[in-house]
Formats: sequence, structure tokens, C-alpha cells
Amino acid sequence: MRKLTKEDLVRLLDHRIFHQISRLADAMGIECYVIGGYVRDLFLGRPSKDIDIVVVGSGIRLAQALAGMLGRGAHLSVFSNFGTAQVKYHGLEVEFVGARKESYSHDSRKPVVEDGTLEDDQNRRDFTINALAVCLNQPRFGELVDPFDGLLDMEDRLIRTPLDPDVTFSDDPLRMMRCVRFATQLNFFIDEETFEALARNKERIRIISKERVADELNKIMMTPTPSKGFVELERCGLLPLIFPELAALQGVEKVNGRAHKDNFYHTLEVLDNVCAQSDNLWLRWAALLHDIGKPRTKRFDPSLGWTFHNHNFIGAKMVPDIFRKMKLPMNEKMKYVQKLVGLHMRPIAIADDEVTDSAVRRLLFEAGDDIEDLMTLCEADITSRNAQRKRKFLDNFKLVRKKLVDLEERDRIRNFQPPVSGEEIMAVFGLSPCREVGTLKSAIKDAILDGVVPNEHDAAYAFMLERAAGMGLRPVEGKG
Ligand code: CTP
Repeated sequence: MRKLTKEDLVRLLDHRIFHQISRLADAMGIECYVIGGYVRDLFLGRPSKDIDIVVVGSGIRLAQALAGMLGRGAHLSVFSNFGTAQVKYHGLEVEFVGARKESYSHDSRKPVVEDGTLEDDQNRRDFTINALAVCLNQPRFGELVDPFDGLLDMEDRLIRTPLDPDVTFSDDPLRMMRCVRFATQLNFFIDEETFEALARNKERIRIISKERVADELNKIMMTPTPSKGFVELERCGLLPLIFPELAALQGVEKVNGRAHKDNFYHTLEVLDNVCAQSDNLWLRWAALLHDIGKPRTKRFDPSLGWTFHNHNFIGAKMVPDIFRKMKLPMNEKMKYVQKLVGLHMRPIAIADDEVTDSAVRRLLFEAGDDIEDLMTLCEADITSRNAQRKRKFLDNFKLVRKKLVDLEERDRIRNFQPPVSGEEIMAVFGLSPCREVGTLKSAIKDAILDGVVPNEHDAAYAFMLERAAGMGLRPVEGKG
């Protein structure tokens, strides 16, 4: 955290827009402050484009005056129902709101709102670090108003609610997700009392829309170490309510003295490993879901120990349901996650054995353009504490990667299109769509993937004629 004096704040608020707001507010005789995330981020040295201004009076009137003063290039939107207004100006978004007092009913996030003082407004905010305000009026320009010791909390790296946390969370349960999200994003600790209130109020998360919860989860996922957020969600008991399939990975069972690893903590380790390599949100989701099928496939076999047969297939099947329930996009992103979950065992299986051309070609065929991401996921999945075992896998992965490059250059398998199409097969043998056409098509595909036939039309055609003859099929006149 940066230590900033009033002079520093004056310097940091040197953007034209703050001076214009200041002059207008003085001329209109109203108090106004920058508040919330923008001020927090000034102290944390994080970039921020969204500016929240709280006005003791009408935020809308001040916004209208500002838009008028800025003229062209400024865009004003007024939300009379909410008593707020927004001015967009050269990439900046400035929100204006009148200082307010809010009271909530038990079953809704919609508060009853009354005009209030700055203090009332700060009281209704979620965390002490988000309740900091800096005055914009002269001569107090740059003066910090910090009634809840938000600065001290920032120094101590603490997320804490300004009021009784039961009130803050019950008023707006989304704040429970925000609490965990900020702790993860900023790498802060959740204050003990605040944490206990998370546990007490967790059931209230049910009144929050799935979209908002997913939005917060995605913000957690985009931090450098999302595991921290998921551990907190698990510890306070929110996880089973918002993501039961992930919570089900937690725990270790022991039979005859043999235990399996805790798949929840293993998953989080894989997730963090992937995050160190990639900013791709959906690759991160694939890491989070890669073992999601394990609880449903877990068996104890007296000779083999714990097994999770087909957990990748079951996991891939679970992906659309999870995305639908959590209101994540049901589009190609979901398909991509599903594909990676389904394929995540393949490179390991190859690397555990002899790395053959045929196995690598098949992998390339199935993964297509997502092969690199799949390899990243699989390398992240090697969390063995046995250094020798880990080395062996990583070395074999290097071999798989090298073969991928060699085969890709030679055989163009990544976006494989069979060199002989179904239409051509039908024309050659005078067939209409039938089982034989499918059999021949997959025989050609297998022959190419197994390296029996090169990925070229004429060679594949000759192979087809030979295979068809064995099936008793003869080309129609002039096609042989
Ligand atoms: N706020 C709140 N309760 C919420 C949402 C927001 O008290 N459920 C208050 C906080 O004071 C917050 C401010 O409104 O700082 C602005 O909210 P928002 O823009 O959502 O968050 P930021 O704090 O700016 O952080 P970020 O942009 O990372 O979400």
C-alpha cells in the first residue's frame, strides 16, 4: 500500500474532470466526494477507470451540469429511478449518486432508499477499504474521510465490514462473494468477525442471481492464485451452496489403511499451476473441472486400491449441466471446456507408456487446435510429490510435444478432413447413405491415424478400394 498525504491525493486527482466537478459543486453549493473503489485503488496503486462520485444532494443535477460543461465528447445517461447518473468522457466512466441511507427487507436486495449524509452513505458500503472518500470541494480538495480506519485495514491487508457484518451481508448477500473476491484479488485476509458472519449468513446467497455469483467467481478465477478464493469459500460453507460439484471433491476416504488424495486440494493446485501459464479464463475453468467426475466414479478395489475409471468421460458429461446451472455461457466456451475435461487423461496415458506416432496422431486429431491448451492442462495436472515420478512424466511430455510438432509438419492432422469423403465413397460404389459408407470412412481415418496410409487422396482412395473389395463391394463402371 502507498502512504499518501493530502498533497499526494491532490496531485493524483489532477485530472481535468476532478477540477471541473469541484468548480461546479462549489458553484452549486453542494458537498461532493470521490468514493469507493477508485480511492482504494489510488492507495493500492492499481489502475482504475470507473470513478464514483457521491454528492450530498442531487447527483443527477451535478452530472447534468458536468456533461453541459464538457460539451461534445461527453455522454450523459440518467437513471432517475435509482437517482444516479453517468458521464462517459474519453474512456472514463464517472458515476454520480446522491448520498443515501438504505434499509433492506429480508427477502430482497432492493433497499428502501432515503437521502442521507456522507456518513450515512459510508455506513451502507460493503468494506472499510471501499468506504474511503476524498473531498472534491475547495478548500478541502484532497482531504480523506476515513471513518472506519480503512487505511489501517489496507495496511494490515484486512477485509472488514464497516458495520456489524451480519447487517452488511444480510442487506446484500452478494457482498459475501465480493468479500472472498477482494481477499483473493488483493491477497488480503478476511477479518475474523467478518469471516464468522460469512458462515452465519451463507444461506442468504440463495437470493442472489446465478449470473452475479458467476461474475464474482470469474473474477476470482482471473486472479493469479484463485485457490485462495476457493479455500475461503469452502471454509465458510458457501461452496456447497454455489458449486456443490466442486465441494463434493473435498475429503479423503480410507479403506484397509489406503487413502486417496483429496481431489479438491489437488484440483486447486492444478488450477494455480495453469494460472501461472495462461490468462485464458476457459482453460482455467477446464482446470477447475478436470476431475469433477471423480466423486461419481470413485470405487475401492481390494487389489487396485482407489480407482476413478472414466472420470474424464463422466466429468465431460457433467460440464453442460454445470454451465447451465451456473449461468455460464452455453456456447463454444462450454464445448471447449468439455473437450479438455474429456481429453485430460490422454497425454498422461501416452506419456506413461511408449510414445508412439499413432497415439500422438490420434490425440492431435481429437484435440485439434486446442492441443496446446490440453498439454498445458496436463502438465499442470502432474502434482506428484515424488520428484522422480514427476520428472519422468514431464520428460515424456517433452517427447509428446516434440512428436506433435514432427507429425503436424508431416501429416497435417490438427484440422483433419478425410481425403476421401462420404459422397465420393457413395459415388464410387453406387451406394446411398448406409452402414458400409461409415465403415469405409472410419477405416480410412484409422489407417491414416495409425500411419498405415499417408494423409493424401490417392493413397487413401487405393486403400478404400482394397478394403471395399474385402467387404464384397465393387466400384461402378469406370470408377475402379
Ligand atoms: N458497493 C457496495 N456493495 C456492493 C457493491 C458495491 O457497498 N454490493 C460499493 C462499494 O463501496 C464499492 C462501490 O460501491 O467500492 C463501487 O462498486 P463496484 O464498482 O462494484 O466495485 P469496486 O469497489 O469499484 O471494485 P471492482 O470494480 O473491482 O468491482
